[in-house]
Amino acid sequence: MDAVKVGLLGLGTVGGGTATVLIRNAEEIQARLGRAIQISHIAGLDIASQKIVDPVTTKLTEDAFEVVNDPEVEIVVELIGGYTLAKDLVMKAIENGKHVVTANKALIATHGSEILKAAAEQGVSVSYEAAVAGGIPIIKAMREGLAGNQIQWIAGIINGTGNFILTEMRDKGRDFADVLKEAQELGYAEADPTFDVEGIDAAHKLTILASLAFGIELQFEKTYTEGISKITTEDVNYAEELGYRIKHLGITRKTDKGIELRVHPTLIPEKRLIANVDGVMNAVLVHGDAVGPTLYYGAGAGAEPTASAVVADIIDTVRTIDAPLHHKVPLLGFQDNAMRDTPVLPIDDVETAYYLRMEAEDNPGVLAEVSDTFAKNSISIEAVIQKEPATGENSVHLIMLTQKCVESNMNRAIAAVESLSSVQGDVVRIRMEHLD
Ligand code: HSE
Repeated sequence: MDAVKVGLLGLGTVGGGTATVLIRNAEEIQARLGRAIQISHIAGLDIASQKIVDPVTTKLTEDAFEVVNDPEVEIVVELIGGYTLAKDLVMKAIENGKHVVTANKALIATHGSEILKAAAEQGVSVSYEAAVAGGIPIIKAMREGLAGNQIQWIAGIINGTGNFILTEMRDKGRDFADVLKEAQELGYAEADPTFDVEGIDAAHKLTILASLAFGIELQFEKTYTEGISKITTEDVNYAEELGYRIKHLGITRKTDKGIELRVHPTLIPEKRLIANVDGVMNAVLVHGDAVGPTLYYGAGAGAEPTASAVVADIIDTVRTIDAPLHHKVPLLGFQDNAMRDTPVLPIDDVETAYYLRMEAEDNPGVLAEVSDTFAKNSISIEAVIQKEPATGENSVHLIMLTQKCVESNMNRAIAAVESLSSVQGDVVRIRMEHLD
């Protein structure tokens, strides 16, 4: 059979990694597929200076529309990122009858419904394995391996940069900005690194996972998103002392009232496997009713780990290219089904346990007053420790672990505690999950 012709949009970190893997592993890929994959056209910035592909056999351009309009190209691989140009290019590729592979989580999370609808109408596929957790084949696991389960909840470390920062802060006491700079140099971070540290990137990925798990529409705008930029070394250390690790988790859970969709720093017991996922590694814990807990682990960012997922999608696309559309695995979790209207729960209605830290006067009765304020708001305290803060003075750090309560209750309780004259400044709150 003739080689399948692939057009790449972007030859940056992931594009370069994808071209490298396709070339280096060409023999294995052809043996597995029964067909060669040829990179026939690439669009990239400053493309003339690239050194990865042979310019004699691959057309090179700075105009990405040349690739999506190239009649020879059967599969367009979008690796430029962003929402606007990427969307125009993907929609044009679909209109031109081309299959699409993308690593663009922002694009799928925000415009996926429209893109996948257009693809279904045109009878082409849009694959996005590399969009979630880099090299981990979590989309394939969800769409295929776990297809017989009712998914109950998912909790994932799905941003490599954030996990790398938290790990370096904990292990080496390194400075936040310094670690972030290193993550950027290593090609882990997004073009705008606030996407990593403020949880937007993880929220994009969680939106996609929740849609696959629960058959709901992609609802990025309803995802509660809180970053790691306010996490201090003090909190990391206190959590350790109490037997917990702080991880930046994306959590989605089906409850009787609706679906939780939330990204925030979370205390988890240090004995959980996922608490020990460090550095740039990602892990996704999926709990199905039949299978129970399953854990998927691997590199969540970086050129070749992400390329691994992109190339797998290209191979899968080629495998199904001749199969009728109704024989293919559905592109997203939601089809025309009864589940798609399940509501997403506002964060105020979500129930979790909490880690709280506050600075209070070191006087008799203060602890009782604080505890009493929580009790009046129906919040049960599970554990308390008292520490001398670095600043000394006549104050102490009170660290409390609470039992589960509804977020709106906790908001009221924190406001009441902050108004006590014996408590100084804001109460720090980090949600806590036992993941069992
Ligand atoms: N910036 C992302 C991360 C890259 O750090 O996980 C992979 O999506």
